[in-house]
Amino acid sequence: MSGDQECDLLFTGATVFDGTGAAPVMQDVAIAEGRIIAVGSGLTLTAAETRDARGLALAPGFIDVHTHDDLAVFRRSTILPKLSQGVTTVVTGNCGISLAPSPLVIRDVPVPPLDLIATADDYRYASFGAFLDAMRAAGPAVNVVPLVGHTALRARVMEALDGPASADEIAAMRRDLAEALDQGAAGLSTGLAYPPAKGSTTGEIVTLATDVAAAGKLWTTHMRDERSGVVSAVAETIDIARRSGARTLISHHKCCGQAAFGLSRTTLAMIEEARAEMPLDIDVYPYTASSTVLIEAYVRDSRKVTISWSDPHPEMAGRDLAEVAAEWGVDVNEAVGRLKPGGAIYHQMDDGDLERILTWPPSLIGSDGLPRDKRPHPRLWASFPLVLGHFARDRGLLSQAQAVAKMTGQTAKVLGLADRGRIAEGCAADVVLFDPAEIRAVADYDTPDAPSAGVTAVYVNGQLAYAPDAPDGAGAGQVL
Ligand code: ZN
Ligand code: CU
Repeated sequence: MSGDQECDLLFTGATVFDGTGAAPVMQDVAIAEGRIIAVGSGLTLTAAETRDARGLALAPGFIDVHTHDDLAVFRRSTILPKLSQGVTTVVTGNCGISLAPSPLVIRDVPVPPLDLIATADDYRYASFGAFLDAMRAAGPAVNVVPLVGHTALRARVMEALDGPASADEIAAMRRDLAEALDQGAAGLSTGLAYPPAKGSTTGEIVTLATDVAAAGKLWTTHMRDERSGVVSAVAETIDIARRSGARTLISHHKCCGQAAFGLSRTTLAMIEEARAEMPLDIDVYPYTASSTVLIEAYVRDSRKVTISWSDPHPEMAGRDLAEVAAEWGVDVNEAVGRLKPGGAIYHQMDDGDLERILTWPPSLIGSDGLPRDKRPHPRLWASFPLVLGHFARDRGLLSQAQAVAKMTGQTAKVLGLADRGRIAEGCAADVVLFDPAEIRAVADYDTPDAPSAGVTAVYVNGQLAYAPDAPDGAGAGQVL
């Protein structure tokens, strides 16, 4: 590399995790105009800024493949939980829930779980294109891969959401889906476990997923059952993927409730077998507690339930549900009724399943964080450092290089992002610098909103986006 070539930023002596899962190598990395222009040892480019990165890991910025950040990306303060972990790209609109097109066409309030991400006032974008225009104008701090939600589409056209859609309703959903895909949606998400989508038939999803496949886009799914029926839910997902031809991503794969413990042996075997004939992937968050809206059945299956938000009783956020019920002198179901609309953290999974799914080589890491929760599940602030620190370095369940690949290179492949997720010449300069010996989750169930330790700096498209104590910059994120 000749000394007359110029770059904006040169990292020297970094321990480079390239995103492929390969063991890290000490290298220099040069960035110009938002791209990685050279990777090698002893680079001699003329650099506007040189950063000594000895002792630090340099990795592709993490891709949070499962988020509910549709609204959070509009402001730096609300996307800070992700930036501060090293995340440079978020996939929004998961679990059937998307901010656009607005589900408030024939009703004025977002039905649960649409209320997980926004209030009625924030559901203001009539089209997916209007949502993306507003996001671009706001200048997001991270890149965004936006999905459109099936439940949002259903809510736009169906009076009663508890049954199957009629032929006319499916036709109307297909028009809205086609428009959203055309205007920039990266795919469709479904949330079939939730009441407003549970009534949809397999055929309804096959029809919509076929349109997604025709557009060359992605279908992500919070499956119909993640409890004792998880095996049949995986079978349904594989059936839909096969009949539609859509690239498919199973969201936050897990086995909830004691009756489901151990079933990940079966589900992973099924998924592995199906992968031989179709593009099918899964993501996972690194915790044995889930979090979503208040649902009685989830309460029954849980060891412990913590209230994460409640509209009628905001003061109960962070409290143990059983304690609140005892204090009120009512049973738990009655307490849930009084707390709704609201959300909770459900301790309901087994470590064995979590570890099996997390260490399964193809699985991707996604946080499923809920940025609107008053008292959020710690996955919002700490999923990525928890995997790199606790699960990889401290417990050795996987290598840090494998962990990085599950957050970067493997994810970019599944999303079809050809120039992200790797440290390689020509790739976009989404980069995280972290201390591999120090990186760790700080946020936990008791202190859910704390930045992680060991993340030194985060660059999005070549611009410094996060460093502890650094001044705020304008967002350099793009809609991908
Ligand atoms: Zn979900
Ligand atoms: Cu989700």
